[in-house]
Amino acid sequence: MHRIAFVSFVMLFCSSVAFAQNQASDKSASQAPAADSKIPAEDAKRPNPVKPTASSVADGKHLYDSQCLMCHGKDGDGKGDLATDMKLNLQDLRDGAALKDSTDGEFFYIISKGKGDMPGEADRLSETQRWNLVNYIRSLASKTPPKTQDAKAKDDKSKDAKP
Ligand code: HEC
Repeated sequence: MHRIAFVSFVMLFCSSVAFAQNQASDKSASQAPAADSKIPAEDAKRPNPVKPTASSVADGKHLYDSQCLMCHGKDGDGKGDLATDMKLNLQDLRDGAALKDSTDGEFFYIISKGKGDMPGEADRLSETQRWNLVNYIRSLASKTPPKTQDAKAKDDKSKDAKP
């Protein structure tokens, strides 16, 4: 009698552990893609109050080189020393096509609050400085355009032309 009670207890215990594990993995799977949706809509829509003048972009670059380059790399290539050390896989900030769906407000929010392994700068940089950083990042995309749709189409054509 005791033995049966013990066996059923063990079985119950095992199945509840399995259940808890399932729940835990479900949770982490559904959390991963939610990172972007954490930015409140009103923050994402927030207009950039600082015009991308030469002096704004220059100040942004100055701040970037001291605060961001160690991760995001020279000119935003995503290959900073710290990013390599931390094994971060960073987006190329020069890739205008990849960033075009992000608003200035979203960048401002990420720079202010941080995201994942990135620390927020709200306590250390003024709002204007953070908008200057947004303006600098935008200037990177226009400076070094990634492979365009046209160039791709050309590639495809030359492939077709081969016998
Ligand atoms: C410790 C390394 C680190 C530092 C320093 C850092 N970042 Fe980031 N940054 C990241 C990581 C990691 C992400 C991607 C976060 C994610 O998607 O989970 C990111 C994302 C971003 C993004 C969103 C676009 C993208 O690539 O996903 C912007 C814009 C950005 N960083 C700008 C900055 C600026 C400006 C600074 C300097 C004030 C800065 N970062 C400093 C690590 C860093």
